[in-house]
Amino acid sequence: MEGQEKQVTCYLLFSLGTAVIGSLQFGYNTGVINAPEQKLRSFFNNTWMERYGEPISPGVCTIVWSVAVSIFSVGGMVGSFSVGVMANRFGRRRSMFLVNTLAVIGGLLMGFSTICSSYEMVIAGRLVIGLFCGLFTGLTPMYVGEVSPTPLRGAFGTLHQLGVVVGILIAQIFGLEVLLGSDKLWPLLLALTVAPAVLQCILLPFCPESPRFLLINLKQEEQARKALVRLRGMEDVNKELQEMKEESAKMAKEKKVTITELFRSATYRQPLLIAVMLQLSQQLSGINAVFYYSTGIFSSAGVKQPIYATIGAGIVNTIFTVVSLFLVEKAGRRTLHLLGLGGMAVSALVMTFSLLLKHIPAMSYVAILAVMLFVAMFELGPGPIPWFIVAELFSQGPRPAAMAVAGCCNWTANFLVGMSFPKLVEWCGAWVFLIFTAFLVIFFIFTFIKVPETKGKTFDEIARGFGAAQTPAASYAEDPAPTPSTAVTLPASSPEK
Ligand code: GLC
Repeated sequence: MEGQEKQVTCYLLFSLGTAVIGSLQFGYNTGVINAPEQKLRSFFNNTWMERYGEPISPGVCTIVWSVAVSIFSVGGMVGSFSVGVMANRFGRRRSMFLVNTLAVIGGLLMGFSTICSSYEMVIAGRLVIGLFCGLFTGLTPMYVGEVSPTPLRGAFGTLHQLGVVVGILIAQIFGLEVLLGSDKLWPLLLALTVAPAVLQCILLPFCPESPRFLLINLKQEEQARKALVRLRGMEDVNKELQEMKEESAKMAKEKKVTITELFRSATYRQPLLIAVMLQLSQQLSGINAVFYYSTGIFSSAGVKQPIYATIGAGIVNTIFTVVSLFLVEKAGRRTLHLLGLGGMAVSALVMTFSLLLKHIPAMSYVAILAVMLFVAMFELGPGPIPWFIVAELFSQGPRPAAMAVAGCCNWTANFLVGMSFPKLVEWCGAWVFLIFTAFLVIFFIFTFIKVPETKGKTFDEIARGFGAAQTPAASYAEDPAPTPSTAVTLPASSPEK
């Protein structure tokens, strides 16, 4: 925005940090289940023995295990789909507060499962935790997007993903046998999610409600102004308030947007297609094939100590998310997403070669390098960008519904990759990553043709860009290069320059 300084106050950072605890929880619960697999399996067996006086059959044990793993994503689908209703009804901040109850319930269910000799409690706990994480994958990016100043919305948007990757890394490290991944302590490892939930509940009352929610949804202009003044650390917030009021006036004409209306209205068709495709590009890139099964991938490539390579991947993952945080306001979303998808496609090819040629000893190093590069490229763009760009592509009215649809697509694709990858490996062997290469190429082309740059634009300008798409005269704001077939256009001048 013209003349808008980059206002970063401690209060803003505190509020963002509090919201990002939700992202950390999502990452932690994504990563936590891998390390204690064998411990959980023997717990299932012991419970079975106690109840039926015979050991559990390997087939049934695998079924119970897979259900415990994947029911998390089922919870995530339902949770992410409900985010719109919650965020509009209770507000952003109160929703985050209420949703933490789920973490407490889920954590306690899993934590007490051994004492109660019930594997059903692990499964129920994973479902509840999935619901919780699904809600937070919508609530955190929405809150962060709404309280951040426009010039820094992308950098702060990346904080959600940073929370996720740090959560995964913490889970990988705590899951080591010498820490909480032992026979006795694994229930504590799973229950640990209660602690950040309690912490967030203590901190949230000190954070402001999203000023956009206060002004646009509740029409509480004074409250919104107060919140903005504290967040920006300056008295004069008129410009930002004015921009919100304009959005509010438009919204009054639009009414509330439900998910059905989102699908029906032609205005939302383009941004919705982009939002959904970006979510699919994140998951169908195959990233979770690496995060769920990297230890197996490394050992089949001949790596001697796969667990350390896995933790190495977690570290690279974190480092490159930080790199993206610093690049995203300079290079822009579109460029980084393209770079990331292209780089991942190349890494997937290299990975395929290294798996095919694994009889050559040096190839295990090539495999490690290819996986690291794959992860690094993911975090440049396809990791962080889809999570926050949905909040950017839609104005206040349709935003919650759009986040719900996008989040649900993300979780569904996550579930499908997680479930099908072991079978795909059985069918395709070393060629399996070529499937992801194909998806990556398709998403690269889509992004090149359809995805606009949203860097530095207000929500309203972005929304207007989609409106302008119907008038062929409009052109790209910052990027004169793309093909003439580019369907999505933004206003010709970039006001922040
Ligand atoms: C993204 C994905 C998540 C994945 C993570 C890896 O947040 O949504 O599924 O596990 O990145 O860093």
